[in-house]
Amino acid sequence: MSAVAKIETLLEENRLFPPPEVFREGAVARDATLYEEAARDRLGFWTRMARELAWFKPWDRVLTWAPPDARWFEGGRLNVSFNCLDRHLAGPRRNKAALIWEGEPGDTRVYTYQQLAREVNRFANVLKGLGVEKGDRVTIYLPMIPELAVAMLACTRIGAPHSVVFGGFSAESLRDRINDSEARILITADGGFRRGGIVPLKANADAALEGCPTVEKVVVVKRVGDGSVAGPRKGAGSDAAAAFEADMRGGRDLWWHELMAKAPAACPAEPMEAEDILFILYTSGTTGKPKGIVHTTGGYLTGVYATTKYVFDLKEEDVYWCTADIGWVTGHSYIIYGPLANGATSLMFEGTPDYPHRGRFWEIVAKHGVNILYTAPTAIRTFMRWGPELPAGFDLSSLRLLGTVGEPINPEAWIWYRQHIGGGRCPVVDTWWQTETGSILITPLPGVIPTKPGSATRPFPGITAAVVDEQGREVPPGAGGYLILKEPWPAMLRTIYRDHDRFIQTYWNKFPGLYFTGDGARIDEDGYFWLLGRVDDVINVSGHRIGTMEIESSLVDHPSVAEAAVIGRSHEIKGQAVSAFVTLKEGVEGTAQLNEILKKHVAGKIGALARPEEIFFTAELPKTRSGKIMRRLLRDIAEGRALGDTTTLADPTVMQKLKTQYDEAG
Ligand code: WTA
Repeated sequence: MSAVAKIETLLEENRLFPPPEVFREGAVARDATLYEEAARDRLGFWTRMARELAWFKPWDRVLTWAPPDARWFEGGRLNVSFNCLDRHLAGPRRNKAALIWEGEPGDTRVYTYQQLAREVNRFANVLKGLGVEKGDRVTIYLPMIPELAVAMLACTRIGAPHSVVFGGFSAESLRDRINDSEARILITADGGFRRGGIVPLKANADAALEGCPTVEKVVVVKRVGDGSVAGPRKGAGSDAAAAFEADMRGGRDLWWHELMAKAPAACPAEPMEAEDILFILYTSGTTGKPKGIVHTTGGYLTGVYATTKYVFDLKEEDVYWCTADIGWVTGHSYIIYGPLANGATSLMFEGTPDYPHRGRFWEIVAKHGVNILYTAPTAIRTFMRWGPELPAGFDLSSLRLLGTVGEPINPEAWIWYRQHIGGGRCPVVDTWWQTETGSILITPLPGVIPTKPGSATRPFPGITAAVVDEQGREVPPGAGGYLILKEPWPAMLRTIYRDHDRFIQTYWNKFPGLYFTGDGARIDEDGYFWLLGRVDDVINVSGHRIGTMEIESSLVDHPSVAEAAVIGRSHEIKGQAVSAFVTLKEGVEGTAQLNEILKKHVAGKIGALARPEEIFFTAELPKTRSGKIMRRLLRDIAEGRALGDTTTLADPTVMQKLKTQYDEAG
């Protein structure tokens, strides 16, 4: 980017976009009332939100806070699937679309609330029939198909915590997650469609299960091999799909459709304690081992219900589309639980933006009349590169609100999104949150808060956030620091599964009593929050969190590698890209072929999302005298900056050599 363009960007950051008048007039929240209410009485505000849900038994206490342990709505009993389904069946929503689903090949299915409830009841009975009891963990490794929603809701119906593993993860990643949660059941599919190819989920699952002693039964959805999508698929793919057959192991593997055909149609919703575990979702941290983030029932549902209602300004007739994968928290909270708890119509799409053509998203918006679109900055930057003519070729006039999540959005992308997708009339909500926070925490309310491109604006009502220095003191406006949360909130994580010490260590030890987000931020003169990215060893590639240590351990696991250091360097489209610096074992030559092999090795061990963009072979890595690798200096090299302070290095000449080598290779 030229210097002039950069200055323009900075100027644009001060542009203010008040809510369009037409939007504000019809908005669910159109003035500061909610903020005032929550500022006056934070717990009262969350109590009022929780009361909008259906409870079998009211709570005795709104909050018990013994930092870092929070218990919300203790004594209350409720059920998530009841709130997402049953309570909509009594009134006119009964025959409203709950899910509109579109498969990658173009096949679509629509489930009304009544139909979805029927499927969920039946699958809950299937799980019971397989011996699943309240509290048993169920791992779900499925593509983005309706059965995924059905399986999750069925788990919540009987009180079995689910652990959804993103379909792009490798067999090994799946195995680690199954074993950490000691799941009894795995739900998967024969395969999934991706960019015209087939992802062999069942084969991956079989490989994973070689080392999973707790899994008793595997339920397999026939997605690829059922022949139903052979029609719309063109070319070699259709034959491949028709010929696709999963290898079913007798006694262990069971077909979803066969079990469903025999399952009774009604299953009562189990009354769960507010603090019973709802689900575990694994995410990356600063060590090599992913952590199982634990969310509980009452607080989580209250948080996602309230934020979905107000941030997305939901109206009864809206079609709402969040483009995330349900394997990530965004999909959990804002494809399934938040929208369905609100009785909304949630669109779910199996495919990618570029298959079979680059206008696929816009085709879907036009075809289904999408009103609210929630996507990631990395996708928006990709669309920018493809050019505005593509979306201009479709009727996007149904859109009235746009959202983004997952990483900081650069002002250019924000403006482009508003202009070329939103036609200049739709507010843009940039929503900041994390797997750990469960629900959106920093965001504009679109009918209330004037937005600034690149800022997530203000904490949601009932959320108290601040930016502090190394000592935990709040910094003045404009100064950078660590983003922290001062008070507990309902959807916050309660622990790391079976590792409460790590929970305390990771989030609460840096600033006792304050939740440490791991993000840098600053607050401007108007009280707006600007997120600056991670300050720890977590990187964010296309909105996906990956720990540098995870990639390093997978690299050193290869017999040729002696040592590895991984950093995230800035990348125009992905936000960050994985850059690896590798020293090889004695006598091993750093060939181009080995470079490719190592990239593949990482993708195979973790999943394609972790595949390094580049691997750089070096004789030595920069280390402090105590042997710690200085990643900061590697980042300087990869981003072509002047080297920072090298005085703490054991051997300062390493950096000069490395930089010369890198620049020559580059
Ligand atoms: C980053 C995804 C800036 C941040 C919901 C956070 C963001 C991490 C934003 C969590 C945003 C998410 N602006 N950064 N609007 N949203 N992040 O757990 O670094 O996959 O800590 O949750 O993504 O990623 P996670």
